[in-house]
Amino acid sequence: MDEGFTLWFTGLSGAGKSTLANLAAEELRRRSHRVEILDGDEVRMNLSKGLGFSKEDRDTNIRRIGYVCNLLARNGVIAISAAISPYRDVRDEIRRNHRRFFEVYMKCSIEKLSERDVKGLYRKALAGEIKNFTGISDPYEEPLSPELVIDSGLERVEDSLQKLIGTLEAMKYIRNGAGR
Ligand SMILES: Nc1ncnc2c1ncn2[C@@H]1O[C@H](COP(=O)(O)OP(=O)(O)OP(=O)(O)O)[C@@H](O)[C@H]1O
Ligand SMILES: [Mg+2]
Repeated sequence: MDEGFTLWFTGLSGAGKSTLANLAAEELRRRSHRVEILDGDEVRMNLSKGLGFSKEDRDTNIRRIGYVCNLLARNGVIAISAAISPYRDVRDEIRRNHRRFFEVYMKCSIEKLSERDVKGLYRKALAGEIKNFTGISDPYEEPLSPELVIDSGLERVEDSLQKLIGTLEAMKYIRNGAGR
């Protein structure tokens, strides 16, 4: 029987959470897994509409995502979270509530992220125009023992995807897809 779990991405804005989450979802669906993505940006427009970026609101947002992921995961779905989730204690609390949890730290330097500046936010944050911007004017606590670290400043997207799927197979979160 297919077993659900939560695939939890964490990392700074622009580190590649949404990009890799979407590619992983595509590959997992191709292998007949049921998959749902809870993307930070989308969640903030519905499930967490009205919440801001204080520590309290961020924690509430992440706890809600964790709660929904757990409901999905225990019903055989691979639930993917792609939200910054800056605080270690809340991530670890969510991990403790899960039976199967796989955390991916999307690591990338601020220099590289500012260069990339996908949403134009680093330029503003570095100019002091955005309060509570994670990594610049708000904390980010790196995971201490994530199941996987992806250095998106160094790796190509396709290599990161292969590494992720390979690790999920090796750690028996999913069946080996070779030869299918
Ligand atoms: N190895 C990699 N993995 C993922 N993304 C990468 C990688 N290398 C380069 N990129 C690029 O980095 C950017 C990541 O943007 P993305 O929107 O996925 O970030 P995010 O972590 O979801 O940010 P946010 O928290 O603001 O939503 C994309 O333009 C992507 O193509
Ligand atoms: Mg994103």
